[in-house]
Amino acid sequence: MIESPVIVALDYAEVAPALELVRHLDPNACRVKVGKELFTAAGPALIEELHDRGFQVFLDLKFHDIPNTVAAALRSAAGLGVWMVNVHASGGRRMLDASMRALDGVAHRPLLIGVTILTSMDAEDFAELAYRDSLEEQVQRLALMSQDCGLDGVVCSAREAPRLRELCGEGFSLVTPGIRPAGAASDDQRRVVTPADAMRDGASYLVIGRPITQADNPAAALAAINASLGIGASS
Ligand code: C5P
Repeated sequence: MIESPVIVALDYAEVAPALELVRHLDPNACRVKVGKELFTAAGPALIEELHDRGFQVFLDLKFHDIPNTVAAALRSAAGLGVWMVNVHASGGRRMLDASMRALDGVAHRPLLIGVTILTSMDAEDFAELAYRDSLEEQVQRLALMSQDCGLDGVVCSAREAPRLRELCGEGFSLVTPGIRPAGAASDDQRRVVTPADAMRDGASYLVIGRPITQADNPAAALAAINASLGIGASS
């Protein structure tokens, strides 16, 4: 049982630097996230290597396609033994239902997380899509639909977490990126929240990349974040 909510984003183009980074991390003190860039370059062999090193893996491929295709992709992902996978909730109810059915009965079912509205979109980007609701309402609508279809949670900004926690209740996972320890550079994230504030606001898991991956001492950076959450070194 990993007490830390931290998921370290392995945002690398190649295997070597990703494995060099995880060499410094304790699989009991965090989980790791492999996204489109690294998975496209490195494939299932990397996932196997991370598992061999004891890490639980969030495979962040954000599937969005016709229900049959997404279901098949999820079965492949589950076959890799990953801990968490995700799909775009805007793929619609039939796609979400098919996603859940695809994972039904698999030996170690990964947590299935919905992506609502990409937090990279601002009000102007969103207006161009001409949805009926406001951006906030659309996020809430997609989170509720994800929950209704049986998904385990959604990705959201920490800013959205309090409202979604209230709406979806306990037990629904809120996975939040855009996290920066107090005093850290915000990089290209425009709205950042500290780990402790995000947890206080209802986050379940914190996706953190550069504050750990670019740190002079990644293990120490992770330990400091965990300590700020009251989590000890190897708990
Ligand atoms: O380095 P940083 O902590 O900003 O990395 C955050 C990670 O979370 C990256 O992998 C990024 O793609 C991902 N992410 C994000 N904002 C979202 C969704 C995912 O930053 N809305």
